[in-house]
Amino acid sequence: MATTHDMIDRAQGVMRRNDRGHYTVPTHGLYPFQWNWDSALSALGFSHFDEARAWIEIETLFAHQWDDGMVPHIIFHERDEGYYPGPDVWGTKFAVPTTGITQPPVAGFAALRMFERAKDRALAENHVRALLPRIHAWHRWFFDSRDPRGTGLVAVIHPWETGRDNSVDWDAAFERVPTEGVGTFTRRDTQHANPSHRPTDEQYKRYIWLVQHFRSLGWDNTKLHDASPFQVVDPGFNAILLRSCADLAELADALGEAEIAAQSRAFAAKGIDALETLWSTPHGQYLCLDRTTGQLIDSPSIGGILTAFAGIPAQRCAALATRIDTLGKACEYLVPSHDPTHPAFDSLRYWRGPVWLIVNYMISDGLERAGQGVMADRIKADCLRLIERSGFAEYYDPLTAEGCGGDAFTWTAAMVIEILNSQKMAA
Ligand code: DGY
Repeated sequence: MATTHDMIDRAQGVMRRNDRGHYTVPTHGLYPFQWNWDSALSALGFSHFDEARAWIEIETLFAHQWDDGMVPHIIFHERDEGYYPGPDVWGTKFAVPTTGITQPPVAGFAALRMFERAKDRALAENHVRALLPRIHAWHRWFFDSRDPRGTGLVAVIHPWETGRDNSVDWDAAFERVPTEGVGTFTRRDTQHANPSHRPTDEQYKRYIWLVQHFRSLGWDNTKLHDASPFQVVDPGFNAILLRSCADLAELADALGEAEIAAQSRAFAAKGIDALETLWSTPHGQYLCLDRTTGQLIDSPSIGGILTAFAGIPAQRCAALATRIDTLGKACEYLVPSHDPTHPAFDSLRYWRGPVWLIVNYMISDGLERAGQGVMADRIKADCLRLIERSGFAEYYDPLTAEGCGGDAFTWTAAMVIEILNSQKMAA
């Protein structure tokens, strides 16, 4: 069994190898650019051994924020023909090209955590002063562009925005996304990773159809939400946004920015109330809402469990801990990204079953804050067992611990550093 010190050392080695100076790639080959939520979560790992580098990671991301406030999901810092769809497909036309959609806004949460534990206080305050209005502009953009009717919760308009690309949650809504006229293209992801761990070709056609559709609308965010045939309110995605709003309010208080603090608290409070409409008593968890039909999506995935991260009422977190315990009876490692007893569960295929350390980290954080420390500790222990068995993989089979997708993965390594260091701090 590896010592804590050895594990942290190995994890830092992974992060250093994927470090490109001012940003990190998630992994070599499969993902050769900067990804939005990967960066913000990876910054947490850096913050334990190189605070200055950690702040740079988030600042690089925000250097590519759009004028309307959106922070794109990929920044194409260098050309790399080994990835599809690259900048030419997105056609967003910046000097350093970006995609035209966003990703889960973890930056507000990461910035508060890094600020609170920073040893170099002056450095942290300088960076946070610069980041605060930018992160707030991104949050405002979400509520303006992705919640045009003011429900308190935002919709995603492309599965890639959630990060949970091929979740079972999207299957029914995806039926409305056409594939005609997409043209032919060559996937690159399946040249780097086992195709049985990745989304299907049929799903890829729909991903690309949506990109082409939004591009044809000039990436105008005043139009995209209503023009998208795919509009899903994901409780997990919203949980991240609402937690980041609440955390940004704390940062704003610390810096004397009363207006940002008040607006951020109002976003968080309204959203937490609205999440209640996504609770499913039969499933004992939250569900996604298909905004185009107005119906809850009957798919028991990890999106509805990640809601623990939002700061929901303690009794809901207690119910989620019970739900996770039930899932644990059907698999060896928590938390599977889809219920193992559901017919669509696939233990190897990306977000249709595998365990992801970043999601485990956020769920355990939320459970711990709500007094569910026993389940939080169990989830973190499972993360470490997975690393012992299969190294720093992108994700893991919850039945066998097989490592899946890319390897030497930055955010997996960052989460190990984060979990082990917080255990040391608590001891
Ligand atoms: C991919 O390329 O697999 C990504 O998930 C899109 O962000």
